Amino acid sequence: MTTGKQMILGMHLGNGYGSQSSAWRAPGVDPANYTSFDAQVRYAQAAERGKFAFLFLPDFLGEQADLTRESLMITLEPMMTLAAIARETKRIGLVATGSTTFNEPFNIARQFKALDVMSHGRAGWNAVTTSDPVAAANYGRAIAPRPERYQRAHETIQIAQALWGSWGRDAWVKDTKTGYFADPAKIQPVNLQGEYVASRGPLSIPPSEQGQPVIFSAGGGGNGAELAGRYASGVIGAVFTIEDSRNQREALREAARRAGRDPDEVKFFAGVMPAIGATKREALDRRVALGELATPARVPYLGAMLNLPATLNVSQLDEPLTPAQLAVASPSPFDPRSVRALEVAREGWTIRDILAHGVIDYHPTPVGTASVTADHMQEWFEAGACDGFWVSIDINEDGIDTFVEEVVPLLQERGLYHEDYEGTTLRDHLGAPAQYGLDPRIAAPAE
Ligand SMILES: Cc1cc2nc3c(=O)[nH]c(=O)nc-3n(C[C@H](O)[C@H](O)[C@H](O)COP(=O)(O)O)c2cc1C
Repeated sequence: MTTGKQMILGMHLGNGYGSQSSAWRAPGVDPANYTSFDAQVRYAQAAERGKFAFLFLPDFLGEQADLTRESLMITLEPMMTLAAIARETKRIGLVATGSTTFNEPFNIARQFKALDVMSHGRAGWNAVTTSDPVAAANYGRAIAPRPERYQRAHETIQIAQALWGSWGRDAWVKDTKTGYFADPAKIQPVNLQGEYVASRGPLSIPPSEQGQPVIFSAGGGGNGAELAGRYASGVIGAVFTIEDSRNQREALREAARRAGRDPDEVKFFAGVMPAIGATKREALDRRVALGELATPARVPYLGAMLNLPATLNVSQLDEPLTPAQLAVASPSPFDPRSVRALEVAREGWTIRDILAHGVIDYHPTPVGTASVTADHMQEWFEAGACDGFWVSIDINEDGIDTFVEEVVPLLQERGLYHEDYEGTTLRDHLGAPAQYGLDPRIAAPAE
């Protein structure tokens, strides 16, 4: 059932290679892209050709990955990366992740509003609470209990927003004749004191074309929904089934209603990690090549997902599950991806190919021609599972272009996706209402 609405797309941007951890050594990829801002700009421009509403940059304050064979997964630094991209793009939104636990609200407010002004109203802040002890260690601290981190998150977002509004919309006079630069009466302190953070203000940055940055959120659970329901215009999800996605979106919309907002103000983005090829075999082979080193190590986990831990082993990598294994296999209740894994196994693929279907990847992986990805997106969107997608490309170097040249036109032909940007700011792209300073509808921080 089409609702008449069109889906909104965001592009995941990370390490400069792609979302598969071995993308750094794929053919045609410069293995030094991790430090190449030119590469990041190129990928951003490709996404902009596809009329993506925003780039989404995850961030972790210290990664613990084993770098022997796999790359890091994040940019060198998200704000620097987006500053470089802002100068080389015109329309696409720029959403960076920033921790509410390991930043002061004044730092966040200043950096994001500067990016917003620099990009002419395209900045967004993905506010995350950070629960990783590795990140805490980099600040010489320990991870505080969740209630404390969420209280601090509410305070940090509210203070940042208040600081954004502390330079009045028309405070900047800059009248060379009279000699008045600004009207200090319209640039006022915020004087906010929370339990964990505080700021006097003002923040001396005038409004951008969208007023101030848009808030995003990527948290899960009740605390995450509560935070997003109050402040977020976009929520980045990790969901594996239409039902789960619909439930999460509904919980979010309910949280927005509780906060006195119109639920349509919060857009929920499901993840998708397409594997695209001229045929299904080609799409699978692309993934097989990418997983060459990691695949054997993943077999035991696949066994656990199918409740076959004892019998599934690496020697069987190029064979399908035996009839005896299939007869007793069942999806593990501990991993939501297990149902899909069993479905694929029952189709008779070898274990190597089952893994190439992305059954252990972070997001659903439609495998095949571009139309398979378009069908997946259409099905989820029309089922009310999401307002759009954040798209994670396996190898950025050619994969973003493939998506833009092959999937985007299909979505457009089907009336599911816009032909061009309708506005110029991130707020326009998301359909988010105007806001300057604190949202007057949001009362005191949650208990
Ligand atoms: C799709 C998705 C993407 C996320 N991206 C990030 C990220 O880039 N950086 C980060 O620190 N946390 C990220 N998170 C984690 C959550 O935002 C949250 O802060 C974290 O799980 C801590 O949760 P807690 O404070 O409720 O324990 C992401 C979560 C999801 C579901």
